[in-house]
Amino acid sequence: MLGELQKIKETFDKDLESCVDLNSINLFRAGLIGKKGRLTEIIKNISSLNREEKVKVGSLVNELKHEIELGVKARIKALSRTGASGDSIDVTMPGVASRIGRKHPLTVILKEIVDIFEDMGFGVVEGPEIETEYYNFEALNIPKDHPSREAFDTFYIEGTYLLRSHTSPVQVRFMEENKPPFRIIVPGRVYRPDATDASHSFMFHQVEGLMVGEDISLADLKGVLEIFSKRLFGKATRMRFRPHFFPFTEPSAEVDISCIICGGAGCRVCSNKGWLEVLGAGMVNPKVFKYVKYGHEKYTGFAFGMGVERIAMLKYGIDDIRLFFENDFRFLRQF
Ligand code: DAH
Repeated sequence: MLGELQKIKETFDKDLESCVDLNSINLFRAGLIGKKGRLTEIIKNISSLNREEKVKVGSLVNELKHEIELGVKARIKALSRTGASGDSIDVTMPGVASRIGRKHPLTVILKEIVDIFEDMGFGVVEGPEIETEYYNFEALNIPKDHPSREAFDTFYIEGTYLLRSHTSPVQVRFMEENKPPFRIIVPGRVYRPDATDASHSFMFHQVEGLMVGEDISLADLKGVLEIFSKRLFGKATRMRFRPHFFPFTEPSAEVDISCIICGGAGCRVCSNKGWLEVLGAGMVNPKVFKYVKYGHEKYTGFAFGMGVERIAMLKYGIDDIRLFFENDFRFLRQF
């Protein structure tokens, strides 16, 4: 009996190792501790032994039985991990958490901008990214010899087609199809062949604004932009207009807000000026009204255009525009 026990013990590991699926493991186990198993037979015969042998064999049997159960369990687990057990789903294994997507920071800021203007009654309009020279330049009173017409400022495609360099052409497209009064904003992608660096990208986003009616004034423009900047950047934000030139507005201005970091005292972000430039604006040039065949004596209006990346960078304190387009989760996860 002791000899048989010894044999089982010696070959157990090897025999178990040769079991490659659940079925063979079960058979192997039954061969040892099943109804007619080798170990079971020994247990049945223990009563025929003398006292001394009983103790010895009994404790060996118990030890072996325990070893067999543990070994079989471990083997099943090992096989199920490799998927070879025939029972390949290990329900005890922890699941793989799926990553939940979120909105891109530009989408977040764009929605905030759109929401603010929608609250003021502006409708959202879109236009094509492939434009003609006529809409991108000519009808906006940008004459042929204007610097921004030169090839280095615009991606030309073929003939008179180009990638729009701003969202302003949608002003013309919309006015051709609609009569005042109206107020619209135009979000969208624009393209410029700039060398990429921390503050330049060959593709970026703008939001254009246009409001036209019978007595729209510069005061309306200031009021709308004031509400916009206070809602987006906080109640304490102040605004100033600096005279500027745009061919499609007259008069024109660049609009600054008080620095959202230092509040106007001067810091690194505002280059110690206390002000941050956020958009261009002005009263629609009557020449543009002529292109869209409005009776320009009757209508007045204002327009503005802002860069979405720039606004997002200011609001979130981002110092490199390239971060928006690199798809680095470590960056995107923060919004
Ligand atoms: N289109 C101008 C640009 O891309 C921005 C702009 C300035 C738009 C003044 C306007 C405006 O509508 O009135 O730089």
